[in-house]
Amino acid sequence: MYNLLKGKKGIIFGALDSKSIAWKVAERAHEEGAKFVLTNAPVALRLGTISELAEKTGSQVIPADATSIMDLENLIDQAMKVLGGKIDFVLHSIGMSVNVRRGNHYTHQDYNFTKTGWDVSALSFHRVMSVLYAKNAMKEWGSIVALTYMAAQRVFPDYNDMADNKAYLESVARSFGYFFGRDKKVRVNTISQSPTATTAGSGVKGFDGFIAYAEKMSPLGNATALECADYTISLFSDLTKKVTLQNLFHDGGFSNMGISTAIMDDFMKDYENDNAEEPVEKSKK
Ligand SMILES: NC(=O)c1ccc[n+]([C@@H]2O[C@H](COP(=O)([O-])OP(=O)(O)OC[C@H]3O[C@@H](n4cnc5c(N)ncnc54)[C@H](O)[C@@H]3O)[C@@H](O)[C@H]2O)c1
Repeated sequence: MYNLLKGKKGIIFGALDSKSIAWKVAERAHEEGAKFVLTNAPVALRLGTISELAEKTGSQVIPADATSIMDLENLIDQAMKVLGGKIDFVLHSIGMSVNVRRGNHYTHQDYNFTKTGWDVSALSFHRVMSVLYAKNAMKEWGSIVALTYMAAQRVFPDYNDMADNKAYLESVARSFGYFFGRDKKVRVNTISQSPTATTAGSGVKGFDGFIAYAEKMSPLGNATALECADYTISLFSDLTKKVTLQNLFHDGGFSNMGISTAIMDDFMKDYENDNAEEPVEKSKK
């Protein structure tokens, strides 16, 4: 390891179980010499296995529902107490759509569910930054990162209202990032990660097909949760001090692809099979 975060203090949101991207970030941050507190919604603390991670990384767990300003104020006060000073890095790794969970189609949402999903997945990022900003809790040249997905820019029909939540999240990163940069010398970015087999990821309808397709489309293959953690660590380190207001694709090249030979070969196999069954029709085409 490289001691990239030696002496740095952080807050990591969203480690639910060992598959969570935030879990991997915590393990890597620990290996790189950081001290941090872990946080998640009270219900997730009961259902998940975060205490294992806390033990392994010598961290304290402070519950906070990211939709509650009171919880966030308490979290940030407690974190500064436990860590003995201001915060160098924050990971927002939070996402949840009630419409996805309930199987509501994008064209027919329950708008109360839409509001809840937006509150948890997108507005929570504004709220976290707002409390950090008001309390002057970030150290100069600190770094704030949130995780997002490319459905914010392009159509992935089954990603449902999470696509809209991610678009909002990425916009908040830019808008708040301006004020955080100008006033506090803190950088704010989003990482747009490949589909990854986690609790949140696997909740998306047709996830297996989705992840296999992305794997075949990306010249370097899908980025794993651990690789996402490595990239996140680089953004928390002093090696990326002037990177801010960016949405950074971490997806093996998927976002710039049109078609890959692997996908084309699969398509042609199906196409030839379909046409072989209908020789007469084929000659008409
Ligand atoms: N898995 C993927 O395919 C993928 C791809 C791109 C981006 N992402 C994003 O990565 C982030 C982390 O997701 P993950 O894939 O590790 O899944 P995950 O299910 O392990 O993590 C989601 C976390 O959000 C937390 N959360 C939900 N409601 C909360 C609340 N009210 N307050 C605080 N925390 C709350 C959950 O407890 C959980 O720990 C999310 O923003 C997700 O959208 C995931």
